[in-house]
Amino acid sequence: MKYHHLVVTGGSGFIGSHFISHVLGSYPGVRVSCADSLTYAAHPDTVEYLAKLSPERYSFHRLDITSPAFSEFLKTSGCDAIVNFAAESHVDRSILDPASFVRTNVMGVQNILDYVRSQPSVRLVHVSTDEVYGTLSPTDPAFTESNTLDPNSPYAASKAAADLLVLAAQRTFKLDITITRCSNNYGPFQFPEKLIPLVIANAIEDKPVPVYGDGRQVRDWIYVLDHCMGIDLVLQNGRSGEVYNLSAHEERYNIDMVHKLLGILGKPTSLIQHVGDRPAHDRRYAVNSAKARGELGWSPKVTFEDALTATVQWYLKNESWWKKVRDKKFFEFYQANYTNKFEGETKGARVL
Ligand code: NAD
Ligand code: TYD
Repeated sequence: MKYHHLVVTGGSGFIGSHFISHVLGSYPGVRVSCADSLTYAAHPDTVEYLAKLSPERYSFHRLDITSPAFSEFLKTSGCDAIVNFAAESHVDRSILDPASFVRTNVMGVQNILDYVRSQPSVRLVHVSTDEVYGTLSPTDPAFTESNTLDPNSPYAASKAAADLLVLAAQRTFKLDITITRCSNNYGPFQFPEKLIPLVIANAIEDKPVPVYGDGRQVRDWIYVLDHCMGIDLVLQNGRSGEVYNLSAHEERYNIDMVHKLLGILGKPTSLIQHVGDRPAHDRRYAVNSAKARGELGWSPKVTFEDALTATVQWYLKNESWWKKVRDKKFFEFYQANYTNKFEGETKGARVL
């Protein structure tokens, strides 16, 4: 690994926590400082798990990326690279409360850019999404990095705004910055508001499985660790100022994905309940990742079948993980106590 001390923002969430595990496990000489404000999306067990993984090389800092405290932290951190995962990440929530998405996904990113401008030797990888490209018809070719940004949800628009600010800062101030745009991730530790963990959790509990509209929307799925390996390669070898799409080229209709999950779980299709469609629901995502594959030698390591089955098995074995955050009482407890316990900057192992 070229870098010795990474600041990983949003490292207590789904993808960021897998990335930190990957880095600590793969590179014995690398230190990781995780900066995360611990929103609802940061599961306390994940926070605890990371703190125990490699305490001598890992520190946790409860910080909001939009805050002056976070900027101060960056100044004293001595890091040589930043990987930014911190975001509000759920489209449905962005429809309910767009402003919170602008705050973190746009203002937070600008805060990081301001720091990198003051320390141009620090490398930044900004983790973006395929959703910035908008939607495809069934016959359109997959998105390439040169597609125009045409976002439809407040989430996608906030990520697109950030991408434009990142690219503008890189060009204007000659900074060392690279962007990744990945397709839909799945795997263990994903908050059960996203399609795959929601379907698995509802089905295990014999609750209705909501399918938006006709269910004929297409998503391009990738196992979370394959995404993390791609980010690792982009961090180390991606060219500054470039965008790299990441995808496993596994397009599926939502309804087919739901049937597949119910099949693995041995649950009846009668659980499926078609509900009203999401406003401005993107019909199809498909991502061309030839650039990352050709330039960086990246490719997904696991097959869709194996990784999806393993993911279902993880949610079956770890019911307490997702039940905890679906339990209203726990959620209230978490908000009231967990939040207070981590006021300000903290270091070292943190448990509830
Ligand atoms: P997530 O919602 O699981 O985690 C987000 C993390 O960011 C949480 O730990 C949360 O506490 C933290 N956070 C939120 N606001 C913050 C703030 N103001 N300051 C500090 N920390 C804050 O999200 P995820 O699915 O792990 O996604 C991570 C990144 O990857 C996001 O930028 C997302 O846009 C991008 N991405 C996600 C997917 C996907 O399928 N999930 C696909 C492509 C790209
Ligand atoms: P989601 O996991 O929210 O990811 P994104 O919207 O960022 O792609 O949703 C994936 C797809 O599944 C999307 O087309 C919306 C659909 N969906 C449902 O049909 N039912 C659900 O309960 C959820 C959460 C999503």
